[in-house]
Amino acid sequence: MTDPAGLHFAHARAPGKINLFLKVGQLQDDGYHELATAFQAVSLYEEVRAYPADDFSVSFTGTVDTTGLSTDGSNLAIKAARLLARKTGYTGGVRLEVEKNVPIAGGMGGGSADAAATLVACDALWGTEASREELVAMAAKLGADVPFALTGGTAIGTGRGDQLSPALAKGRFHWVLALAEFGMSTPDVYTALDRHREKHAQDIFPASLQPTVDADVLQALRAGDPRQLAEALRNDLQAPALGLAPGLGSILELGERVGALAGIVSGSGPTLAFLVPDADSALELQVELSASGLHALRVTGPVHGARLVQEW
Ligand code: C5P
Repeated sequence: MTDPAGLHFAHARAPGKINLFLKVGQLQDDGYHELATAFQAVSLYEEVRAYPADDFSVSFTGTVDTTGLSTDGSNLAIKAARLLARKTGYTGGVRLEVEKNVPIAGGMGGGSADAAATLVACDALWGTEASREELVAMAAKLGADVPFALTGGTAIGTGRGDQLSPALAKGRFHWVLALAEFGMSTPDVYTALDRHREKHAQDIFPASLQPTVDADVLQALRAGDPRQLAEALRNDLQAPALGLAPGLGSILELGERVGALAGIVSGSGPTLAFLVPDADSALELQVELSASGLHALRVTGPVHGARLVQEW
């Protein structure tokens, strides 16, 4: 693609996600936990524009505050571009411009979406023509949630969350997100869960070796029934996230009191996702939460995974 100024570039978009269900199994030797999760991609997107360059760089703009983000080689978008170059033998670089709309360290996979969109944008810019399978394999190396950001829709994730199978989901679900002004570290939330499990090992069942997604979730998705889905939402990271950020508990209660069918911590938090029956209820809940001083957004899911955008 060429922009009005005659610059050659590629633009890809990838969605943030909500975990509708997240059961955390045992900690493995590689530092990851065995998971069973149901992901839904929602209509909040990261936009990545990739321009030709000799080396690798990234800059950020967007609706979220991006001042604290690293722009060196530790950034996941740069890692994604470098990995694609290495795997395909591409010898040049790329200048990435990322427009961020998914909260940073918010539990919605924003960094993973950056990485997925970067793979798609660089593949188009460089003409490297990696297959979908190759891109998914690279995505899994970059992070547990990156393969889902590539595929999107509604999917079941096992293993680290990166072994995906599509879930049949009917219709569109309406969500209201309550965004926090702070971020949370995913490893910290998992560690808090492990500590809790160790401390209460006498009183609780040991974590599953091979967790599975409850049949109720799959049934609610197939039926496209938000009330049924509200009953089936579950996130094992919610309790440790609320332990680390206790203020979230009262926001969950507030959302459920003023109209949500159910509220849940998204991934490792601190973003909260409230499920509502329809678009009108979403608007009402957004108004209620905003009136309480919260930053609330309406989104729907499922939406597509990372793909190219034609701008002109
Ligand atoms: O793969 P990603 O970089 O997104 O994972 C961040 C961290 O989250 C991991 O380093 C690990 O501490 C934790 N994690 C985990 N089990 C998973 C996924 C993530 O313990 N299945």
